[in-house]
Amino acid sequence: MKLMRPHDPFWPYPQWIAHRGAGKLAPENTLAAFRAGAALGYRMFECDVKLSAEGVPFLLHDDTLARTTNAHVALGAGLSDVAGEHPWGTLALLDAGSWHSRSFAGEPLPTFEAIARYCVHNEFFLNIEIKPTPGTEYHTGQVVARHAARLWHGAGTPPLLSSFDLSALDGALQAQPDLPRALLLETLWDGWLDAAVRLGCVAVVCDHVLWDASNVAQARSAGLRTLSYTVNDETEAQRLITLGTDGIITDRVDLFSPSNQ
Ligand code: G3P
Ligand code: MG
Repeated sequence: MKLMRPHDPFWPYPQWIAHRGAGKLAPENTLAAFRAGAALGYRMFECDVKLSAEGVPFLLHDDTLARTTNAHVALGAGLSDVAGEHPWGTLALLDAGSWHSRSFAGEPLPTFEAIARYCVHNEFFLNIEIKPTPGTEYHTGQVVARHAARLWHGAGTPPLLSSFDLSALDGALQAQPDLPRALLLETLWDGWLDAAVRLGCVAVVCDHVLWDASNVAQARSAGLRTLSYTVNDETEAQRLITLGTDGIITDRVDLFSPSNQ
């Protein structure tokens, strides 16, 4: 089904964004997931990025490895389940596909660099959610922003860096002020608009249920774009488009067709 916002020449990103790559049809935050979304016409992807113990950015949603890798088998008992406590050499050997289905057995955790090269080469757009291991927020923001600037140097539309964490966004701002940033919100806590402006954000990405005409107007009057996560329902997608919001992150790449945007 096609639900489209009006064309907007001042916002470079597509309306439809595949969540965690396209992380329902294939294991989330893997190259296989990106390929699944691309095969259905998606040109923009959201993914979660954190650092290995020595600072290699890679894709993983959770703080821990248990849900989406075979770490419990591969690392053995007694070793930490916290992903960010392991060096990349260990993380690179894990199977991040079998938990999803047998056909993805052996799919590796990707480095951020591998995903960036895939996106740049294919002229895809990326929303990098900075998802720091607790205690590494500012540093993760800095490192991810530096890598993003390097990988997109001279390569067209830069990625949109987002985070729920103010310190991570501040790290990104201090390291690479010219990269676009977005504040992620699961509640509209006091001061959200001021924080987004103070951090030089270009957008706010809200839990979709939070958006209404009043706060969309507030964000717009502060010069901020309005995006939503994670929208998997046609009626809700139509409501957000009618409100005039700018982007929709979805798991349902099989339901919403992004073609012709
Ligand atoms: O970036 C939007 C969305 O991904 C935030 O929630 O938990 O799926 O990373 P989560
Ligand atoms: Mg995310």
